[in-house]
Amino acid sequence: MKTPILLVLCALCGLAISVPTCNYSTIGTTYVCFMNSSIAAATDTIGGTIEAGKSETDVKRVTTLDAANKDLIKLVLNKFASLEALQIQKGGVASIDVTDFPSGKCGALKQLQIWNGQINAIGAQDTNIFGACSLIEEIDLTGNQLAKLHSGSLPTTLKKLILTNNLINPNYQTSSFFGSTTSLPGLTHLSLSGNKISTLSLVNLPSEILTHLDFSNNLLAEFPLVNLQKSTKLVSFYLNGNKLTSIPETLVSSMPDLIELKLGSNLITTIHQDAFKLNTKLTSLDISANPLKTLNDAVLKNILTLTSLDIHDIQLESASFTPLKTVLEALANLQKLDISSNSVGAIDTLFIKNVNLLDLSISSMKLNQFTNETFSTLVKLQNLTFSNNEIVEIPDKLFEKTTEMKRLIARENKVAILKASTFATMKNLEVLDFTSNKINKIEKTFFDQFTGLKEVRFASNECINEDFVPFYKNDTATMAKFQKCFDNYNSARSIVISNILLVFVAAVFKFM
Ligand SMILES: *[C@@H]1O[C@H](CO)[C@@H](O)[C@H](O)[C@H]1NC(C)=O
Ligand SMILES: *[C@@H]1O[C@H](CO)[C@@H](O)[C@H](O)[C@H]1NC(C)=O
Ligand SMILES: *[C@@H]1O[C@H](CO)[C@@H](O)[C@H](O)[C@H]1NC(C)=O
Ligand SMILES: *[C@@H]1O[C@H](CO)[C@@H](O)[C@H](O)[C@H]1NC(C)=O
Ligand SMILES: *[C@@H]1O[C@H](CO)[C@@H](O)[C@H](O)[C@H]1NC(C)=O
Repeated sequence: MKTPILLVLCALCGLAISVPTCNYSTIGTTYVCFMNSSIAAATDTIGGTIEAGKSETDVKRVTTLDAANKDLIKLVLNKFASLEALQIQKGGVASIDVTDFPSGKCGALKQLQIWNGQINAIGAQDTNIFGACSLIEEIDLTGNQLAKLHSGSLPTTLKKLILTNNLINPNYQTSSFFGSTTSLPGLTHLSLSGNKISTLSLVNLPSEILTHLDFSNNLLAEFPLVNLQKSTKLVSFYLNGNKLTSIPETLVSSMPDLIELKLGSNLITTIHQDAFKLNTKLTSLDISANPLKTLNDAVLKNILTLTSLDIHDIQLESASFTPLKTVLEALANLQKLDISSNSVGAIDTLFIKNVNLLDLSISSMKLNQFTNETFSTLVKLQNLTFSNNEIVEIPDKLFEKTTEMKRLIARENKVAILKASTFATMKNLEVLDFTSNKINKIEKTFFDQFTGLKEVRFASNECINEDFVPFYKNDTATMAKFQKCFDNYNSARSIVISNILLVFVAAVFKFM
């Protein structure tokens, strides 16, 4: 039915409508075909002009947008004999099967990505549909509609399997998710993030050499040890965004190489004090957004290797912060710390001293005051975020020691005055964000001292209500927008001076 209509259309507007056309480009050293048309009808031609000196066998990658044609994969593989990567976005096909990978035509393919399409099946159970693709290493089917999978339908050469944002749900499985045996012996990366997995009882991890495992954003309430016993090589493990309620001693105890662990956004109330005792290489831990209320200091004492700790929004109570502070200070390697969204009260309780910190977030903590010493030990600090607090004043020497600062984010506070000398140490500042404060006075020389400011945000303030991205202090139109702030600063000073004068004059008069 469709073809005659298309033919009529084509009589009017040429063949271009149904023939996919490559826009050939060299990206780095790779010759790439960008296909930007929606391919509606079956065809065996690919249009476009290959540049002089190149041939079809030079094409190493095809990237398409909006490709709906069932036969696209076959078409592309037939045409480009040396193709290494095929990336299809919004692929419209419902399944991929053995006829898509023509025998003898898939030899060079290493990477297959089909994103945001309608794929709900890969071949038939235990039929390896990729048999013709003897080098394939990565399959990425992010954003499709797969509900089940069987590792028997995948190539044994696979190293990376990305099934993020599908509909994988153990209810659809009659047998184990990956089959009963370890059938992907070379798999190192597996993502099942963003599916509907509520139990792991049917998930038999397909590889003993997995280094990266992503189970984030599923519905897991527990993580049975039996499923992890073979995964002793894991380096990064993501379990954030599930429904876990506790971290038992055994969860990651079989993973001595673990470097990065994400447990954020669960329902965790307790962490066993020896949970990370055997993870002597752990450097990055995220336990944010859990209703922990308190963090047993013994938990952190076991992982003094940490360089990055995210404990934002763990409902920390003031009483539990003081002991925690001591442990935090013992984390001598810490470079990144986020303790935002915990109401610890006064800043004196806070006082983070880790000299190696590069990035500190203390937003949403109801802080109302800094002292001259608050950041005085943080001599390497590059990023500081203290948004959504009640800070009114920036003390004169607050930034005296933070000479490496690149990003200062201070949105949603109550700061009114910006003095040049207070910021004089931060020559390399790139981003300055005082959105939604009460700025009404800025010293005229304030911007002169920065050498590489790129982004300046002052929306929702009293004397200025604008963002400047990019920001150029040599731009007179930009500076004119700050004139009111500069004028207010000067008149505030002259009021002070005239007040002093008045007092003086009054005193002189009184004396007479
Ligand atoms: C081809 O791709 C290049 C690089 O992405 C782009 O600059 C150019 O506009 C494209 N041409 C057509 C006709 O789509
Ligand atoms: C492809 O088309 C989309 C919209 O139709 C456009 O936004 C995009 O820039 C195009 N890309 C190329 C590489 O021509
Ligand atoms: C500072 O923040 C930026 C933006 O979020 C980030 O890209 C950069 O890695 C951070 N720097 C450090 C040292 O963490
Ligand atoms: C910071 O130091 C300055 C100068 O020594 C002093 O005037 C000011 O009161 C101090 N501010 C705070 C909040 O300690
Ligand atoms: C202003 O500064 C920017 C970046 O520092 C520079 O690219 C630009 O040429 C300067 N403009 C003038 C008018 O000096």
